Amino acid sequence: MITTAIRKTVSRTFKPSALKPRNQAQLPDFAIKSSIPIRHLAIGFKGKEIDLSFYMNNQFATLFFATLSVFLTYGEDLVIETARHHREFIKDPVLKQRVTSLIGQEAIHSKLHNEFNDAITELQYPVRLYRFLGEQFFKHVFLRFPQPLKLSMMAGIEHFTAVLAEYMMKHEQNFYHSDDAKTRALWMWHMLEESEHKDIAYDVYQLLNGNYKLRAGGFLLAYITILVLVPFAAFMVPVLRKPQEMLTGKFWKDMRRGINLLFSPTEGVFGSTQGQIFDYLRPDFHPNDHDTTEYLDYYKNKLLTEGGALHSFFIKEFTPKVQQAA
Ligand SMILES: [Fe+2]
Ligand SMILES: [Fe+2]
Repeated sequence: MITTAIRKTVSRTFKPSALKPRNQAQLPDFAIKSSIPIRHLAIGFKGKEIDLSFYMNNQFATLFFATLSVFLTYGEDLVIETARHHREFIKDPVLKQRVTSLIGQEAIHSKLHNEFNDAITELQYPVRLYRFLGEQFFKHVFLRFPQPLKLSMMAGIEHFTAVLAEYMMKHEQNFYHSDDAKTRALWMWHMLEESEHKDIAYDVYQLLNGNYKLRAGGFLLAYITILVLVPFAAFMVPVLRKPQEMLTGKFWKDMRRGINLLFSPTEGVFGSTQGQIFDYLRPDFHPNDHDTTEYLDYYKNKLLTEGGALHSFFIKEFTPKVQQAA
């Protein structure tokens, strides 16, 4: 198994010495980075209100994102656990504070996605089965990895969510083909925050480890999980959910269009972004090489202000304090 091979190599090669700072020259000046708030939302999902053709009037693509929603919560738990562990080794007070914001944002993502996942159980989505598989896989495989590999995987996962967020921010209209304001709020809020905190995990990795081969290994594991295992699980949803639908021409037409929406090399969410995904393997890559500040400013103003997609669900925000080192 690939994961076992990588894990063994990592244990041999990256013992605790992995926590020595490296690549200092490539590290950004954290003092000039803006602070990131942790936003609390209350959406209140109800199964009957969720539109199963939410994404571009397409059921297959929507079920793909529902599958991502289930497995993302485990990825977020891994990010939270790994970030908590490594925060102790960070001396820079600004980066430390940014890691606290990352942990806070991911904790609320996981909570709200779990509420969404609970609600789609009512729509015969196989949440219980996929939660069981996700839990077993993360508990027995990913969470057993040595910390340096978990750190590398955390940076890899965050790269994927950053690329997805950028695509979605550039295709805002894709969220407006449905009246389902709650699903829209969930994904737009999540994408906004993924883009907002996209450099934190990477900066922590570069600061505490920085080994290129290990970074590539974490990327590979994230790639296989998000673009092989999750799509496989998504393809199984119709079989587990309503196999009788598969006997209709409408189902296959919807599926063909859904595959295009996701994987077409010209316009698909993941197909058209492969170049940006693999840019991560450039030795001098940094997440901020892909500048999304204008989109972020636009989204924050548009979504959180009155009439915006998040406004009616927003409760409060909290920005952790920068604690100066003693
Ligand atoms: Fe997240
Ligand atoms: Fe994230």
